[in-house]
Amino acid sequence: KKVYLNGEILDAENAKISVFDRGFLFGDGIYEVMLQINSNFFYGAEHLKRLAECLEKINIKFDVSSLPDTIEQLLQTCELEDKDCLLYIQVTRGIAPRKHSFPTNIEPTLLMYAIPFILPDINEKPISVVIAKDFRWHRCDIKMTSLLGNVMANDVAIKGGHYETVFYRDGKVTEASHSNIFFVKDGIVYTHPADENILNGITREIVIQLCRESNIPIQEKGILEQDINEMDEAFLTGTSTQIASIQKIDEHAYYEGNEPGVITKKLQLLFLELKN
Ligand code: PDD
Repeated sequence: KKVYLNGEILDAENAKISVFDRGFLFGDGIYEVMLQINSNFFYGAEHLKRLAECLEKINIKFDVSSLPDTIEQLLQTCELEDKDCLLYIQVTRGIAPRKHSFPTNIEPTLLMYAIPFILPDINEKPISVVIAKDFRWHRCDIKMTSLLGNVMANDVAIKGGHYETVFYRDGKVTEASHSNIFFVKDGIVYTHPADENILNGITREIVIQLCRESNIPIQEKGILEQDINEMDEAFLTGTSTQIASIQKIDEHAYYEGNEPGVITKKLQLLFLELKN
């Protein structure tokens, strides 16, 4: 397996990162995950834009404009240029003596790899989730590599046989450990506004756009945790999650059987059209 590291394409086992890399010591870095579908990156420009914005937020000076060429080289070397695959990109602040303060002239570390990835046509399998208080920090808008909070929360879900842990903060449902959440009530779609409490998912933005284009009322408003059982439908969105219908949240079932709610289903079908 090949990876791209700081200007070189190497076998993964030969790619070496310094133990003083701040990505390793502090989780001081930003990452992106995007999919190539039918030889094109699905909303690739939006993913690179978010990468640039997040790097800017944490003051890592890195120009993303050369990335498309580098990505192409990597995919060619891996013989994935015309295959469906998942691309991981990570930019860390770079190598420096271990201190909170960092030098200004530090060179960022760029790591990328691509792996074959087959997306199911449509996410048909209903999922179950659990809900927990968000114990992460207050800048969830930054797609940082320090994902311990998300990892811990996700672990609770997986150990209980669930797909995700959904968070609430200040009484409102925000997002999940690696996806965004939407609810539907009386024909209106709700999702938490894109503030510092959530990562503004590219898939989330696509779903909002799909709602607008097909005249499904959409409100960017956080649903109260105490009201989740009153909702008609709920679904998760994310790059690898796509649109996944939530069948059960804790002990509450939104529906029995396998058929998602009408609006979730409609959005899944519209999303499928986008990919083809
Ligand atoms: N996760 N919220 C969180 C906390 C996420 O980590 C993600 C993405 C999302 C959805 O964002 P998008 O639609 O742009 O993928 C929301 C990626 C896929 C991951 O960690 O692998």
